[in-house]
This record gives sequence, C-alpha cells and structure tokens, in this order.
Amino acid sequence: MQMHTIDNGLKKHSSPEETTPPSAEPPKNQISASQIEIPADMVPAIRSDHAGEVGAVCIYRGILAVSNSIELCDFAHHHLATEQRHLKLMEEILPSEQHSRLLPLWCVAGWLTGALPALFGAAAVYRTIGAVESYVDLHYARQIDTLRDRSADEPLYRLLKACQSDEVMHRNDALGRLGKPSLVGKAWTRMVSLGSSAGVYLASRL
Ligand SMILES: [Fe+2]
Ligand SMILES: [Fe+2]
Repeated sequence: MQMHTIDNGLKKHSSPEETTPPSAEPPKNQISASQIEIPADMVPAIRSDHAGEVGAVCIYRGILAVSNSIELCDFAHHHLATEQRHLKLMEEILPSEQHSRLLPLWCVAGWLTGALPALFGAAAVYRTIGAVESYVDLHYARQIDTLRDRSADEPLYRLLKACQSDEVMHRNDALGRLGKPSLVGKAWTRMVSLGSSAGVYLASRL
C-alpha cells in the first residue's frame, strides 16, 4: 500500500520502501495522511475539499481532451499530477461514506470547466484556472484559519497548508502567463468564482 506523505508543498508521494525502512516511523517533517483524523466540525469543509479535488482532476482531463496545444497540454499535465496527489490524500483522510453524493456532477462540471475554455485557446484556460485557484486559495485559507489554534489538529493543518501552497502556485502559473484581464475576462473570472462558491456550498452539504 502506498503511503502519501506531506512535507513542504506535498512534494513526496512515494512508497515507504523508497524512502524509509519498513518499520521506521515517518520522518519528523512528514505525516502519514492516513493518521489524520478530521474534527467533526471540519467534515463538511473537507468533503468540499475532496469534491473540489475531484473537480480539479476533471478540469485538467477536460483540457487535455480538447486541446492540441503543446504548451497548454504541458501546463495541464503538470497541474494534473498535483491534483491527483491532492485527491489521493483527501481520499485517505475522508471516509468514503463522507464523500459528496454529487461526485459525478463535480466531475462533469470540472471537465466542462476545463474543456470549454480550451475550445477558445490557452488564454481562456489560464484565465479560468486563475479564477478557480484564486477561489480555492481562499477556501483553504478559511479552513487553515479555523485550525490555526488547534494544536491537536496540526497534521490536518499542515496538509491543508501544503495543498493551499500548491493551489497558489497553480494560480500564479496560470495568471503569470496572462496580461491584465479584459472586461470579458473579468466577467468570466467572476462567473467562475461564483460557480466555485456554489459548488463548495453544495458539496459541503450533499
Ligand atoms: Fe488541488
Ligand atoms: Fe490546483
């Protein structure tokens, strides 16, 4: 069984035998995600995180299904690998009975959120990813603020911080490829943000 570990920025995702002897404890700066227990009041938020990572994986698959751009596909492959690691971590910490019942919807919505802008070209995708990841940054930040003073929840805090750090890198990667947004770009960013907000609202409850 693979052990998904958290360190500075979720860079590790490896089998135990690649990094540590079988009987060794995880290194001090690494945490086994399977050891994380979610406080009851955080379950809805983590459910929305899990749903969001499902959607994120599908966003990049949607881009890759539509785009022929080498640059854009390279961008999507790179981000997809990170989102797949995030999803595995969320699946490890959140029991399946706590998953959103709307996962197929999040997958379809994510796929369309990637595929439709990809029909219009790389700039539309980067604008979309910039908007999604800006929202996700704030969404993780709210949870991190909630956990900040709970020392007992430190592993979950670190996991969320590491995920947030990756999402910020995704946002900066996308927006760094663009100039200032046009009025259409601003309107699209607002629409994506509202859609993300509605998704989180529903996923945390259903
Ligand atoms: Fe993610
Ligand atoms: Fe991301």
